[in-house]
Amino acid sequence: KNILFVASEGVPFIKTGGLADVVGSLPKNIDKRYFDVRVVLPLYKCINQQMKEKMEYISNFYMDFHWKNEYVGIFKAEVDGIKYYFIDNEFYFNGMKPYGDDVVFEIEKFAFFSKAALSILPVIDFRPDIIHCHDWQTGLVPVYLKERFQGSEFYRGIKAIMTIHNLKFQGKWDIKTVQDITGLPDYFFAPDKLGLFKDANLLKGGIVYSDAITTVSKAYAEEIKTQFYGEELDGLLRARAGDLRGIVNGIDYDEFNPSTDKYIPYKYDAISFRKEKVKNKRALQKELGLKEDDKCMMIGIVSRLTDQKGFDLINYVLDELCQDAVQLVVLGTGQEQYENSFRHFDWKYNDKVSANIYYSEPMSHKIYAAADAFLMPSLFEPCGLSQLMALRYGTIPIVRQTGGLIDTVEPYNKYESTGTGFGFLNYNAHEMLGTIREAEHVFYDQKREWNKMIDRAMAVDFSWKVSAEKYQEMYDWLRP
Ligand code: ADP
Ligand code: GLC
Repeated sequence: KNILFVASEGVPFIKTGGLADVVGSLPKNIDKRYFDVRVVLPLYKCINQQMKEKMEYISNFYMDFHWKNEYVGIFKAEVDGIKYYFIDNEFYFNGMKPYGDDVVFEIEKFAFFSKAALSILPVIDFRPDIIHCHDWQTGLVPVYLKERFQGSEFYRGIKAIMTIHNLKFQGKWDIKTVQDITGLPDYFFAPDKLGLFKDANLLKGGIVYSDAITTVSKAYAEEIKTQFYGEELDGLLRARAGDLRGIVNGIDYDEFNPSTDKYIPYKYDAISFRKEKVKNKRALQKELGLKEDDKCMMIGIVSRLTDQKGFDLINYVLDELCQDAVQLVVLGTGQEQYENSFRHFDWKYNDKVSANIYYSEPMSHKIYAAADAFLMPSLFEPCGLSQLMALRYGTIPIVRQTGGLIDTVEPYNKYESTGTGFGFLNYNAHEMLGTIREAEHVFYDQKREWNKMIDRAMAVDFSWKVSAEKYQEMYDWLRP
């Protein structure tokens, strides 16, 4: 069976968040004896030079798009046995970042990408049985596929899957504009297709026209059928409940491995963490100018700094938290208000708080290895990968119990001595603070319990093994 992934980002080429981790690691874990999985990505100018050097030029043609004939260049690269294809177009993919342009341009850019991803298939001579799309940026792929391309023999019968990594982002704008961009006739914008209230909605189109829908945890699959988490698509998702499944993400266990990680100074495993992990903490304290203290509990945060991740809760109680014996190390970029408030707290509690407002893969690994606990009080969380990385490094997650955080972190139960982290239920700053303090209590007063929790955390398996099989079952179910 041939499977084609279409996505807007993927490791090792370009990453802004967890989507890239998934697109970069899931294909490698699909059984090559039965499936030929290939990936299409945009050829962003901001992909680093080293990666660009791995690409070879294949061909180009002009595609009918948005009242013009638009250039489509095709490049190819092979990494870890996976074939990647890149759509080249300097007008659309010239930005400093993959996203963040004006909304209309963004919609036009990914409409172009979606149509191009389908158009290159005969040229690269790869006919997928299933096209597996990811998030709103690829929402038009199933739409174009079913309504525009399946007239021709080559495309007939190809199935489509839409995986929702984040329902919050849908790619929506007024119908007239989107109609101009996509060249799709009126009836596409009816409420049973792309239309939603007064807008055209690309993710909705992708869901409507896909044969199967997945999201990245079981809990989130349930949540998005409710009004609170449903982002106005809960009705549609309830109607399609039979085609919707939740498959929890894994992470790349080779890349995230404390016993081989090239970014961390002191390697360790499930046995040696008792001696070695703390050395990483000391090294990081030194590097970041925090008080060098083995005993002080270090709380790590590696995240996009956005409302989704619960930073208003942290903001609200950080003064109180800083009265405790804790250190807080933050790595992230995002909304200015959060970037600035962490800078402020870094200034105010200089030897306790370290705000690192930038993006850095090496620094993220150092934090996963050095911290004692990892804080993730998300408002909503489709899956979350950071907490899986934390678990892998024996860093105890403190999470709000929502979405994938429910499925992946088992809250500590002091009576039974079970659990891999700490969880709180309500989106409430003091409930979070209370839970952090419960963790502090175990960390400081019950070291044996804490270490046993690390044993359990490092023993859970969130490699792709189990989840990749679930994807394979779905591919088989769609295309027996
Ligand atoms: P989301 O996709 O919603 O951002 P995830 O937890 O699924 O959340 O994935 C986030 C990914 O991005 C993780 O691999 C995390 O380590 C990484 N990440 C986030 N911010 C940064 C940063 N500033 N520097 C390095 N890595 C980061
Ligand atoms: C999204 C979600 C995150 C998920 C990631 C990969 O960015 O916010 O929860 O882990 O996609 O599926």
